[in-house]
Amino acid sequence: MSLIKNPLIIALDVDTVEEAVNLVDGLEPYAGAFKVGMQFYNSVGPETIRILKRKNVSVFVDLKLHDIPNTVAGAARVIARHGASILNVHAAGGSTMMRAAAEAARDEAERAGVDHPQVVAVTVLTSIDQRMFNDEIGIPGAIRERVVSWAKMAKEAGLDGVVASPREITAIREACGTDFVIITPGVRPAGAVVNDQKRTMTPGDAVRLGATYLVVGRPVIAAPDPVEAAKAILREIS
Ligand code: C5P
Repeated sequence: MSLIKNPLIIALDVDTVEEAVNLVDGLEPYAGAFKVGMQFYNSVGPETIRILKRKNVSVFVDLKLHDIPNTVAGAARVIARHGASILNVHAAGGSTMMRAAAEAARDEAERAGVDHPQVVAVTVLTSIDQRMFNDEIGIPGAIRERVVSWAKMAKEAGLDGVVASPREITAIREACGTDFVIITPGVRPAGAVVNDQKRTMTPGDAVRLGATYLVVGRPVIAAPDPVEAAKAILREIS
């Protein structure tokens, strides 16, 4: 079941509740969900999730958990209890860690009587290019092959999907099927500034290739008119 009403997820990369609430109030009709990431969460804490839930919007808690299985399972349990619709862990934490997170989130959602969150694995960050991947991180081979292999491992471990660049959508769909959730950041409308993103694509192309959800931050939240920027993205993908 999808907990999210349209594919556009807005990243609330802000420091304050006031900034977040202003964005949510304006963008709520155009966004499927709002993403709380490490900036907003570390500034305000778990209250961020409760504030958004009170506004009746779906929340993606993007804390990219990566630790030993017991610690990650504990954190996934807490995030599920808060009512997240999506939470994520790093695929590089391995299959035991991923399985522990997925099971903990499901068990806790059941116990607390809230919807099961979708648990997804972060593959290779969209800010990493092929050279950085091989020379700096030290993993040999093509990024696409690593992403597909992590996506298959995530599926085996009982996760609902992955976070990946739009450039890997086709290969992931082939390997993991139509029901597998693919969340793509690194989305930039034609002509927009790419910032620190490397493996980018336009929203229209990402959806045509089969992205389940798009995560967009600065092209909307830093736009002179965030509502107009979100509407333009929705027009492009519809
Ligand atoms: O501003 P921008 O659209 O680049 O923001 C993308 C958002 O997606 C950020 O909140 C970032 O933390 C997140 N992200 C992610 N996984 C990636 C790349 C970005 O969750 N691979």
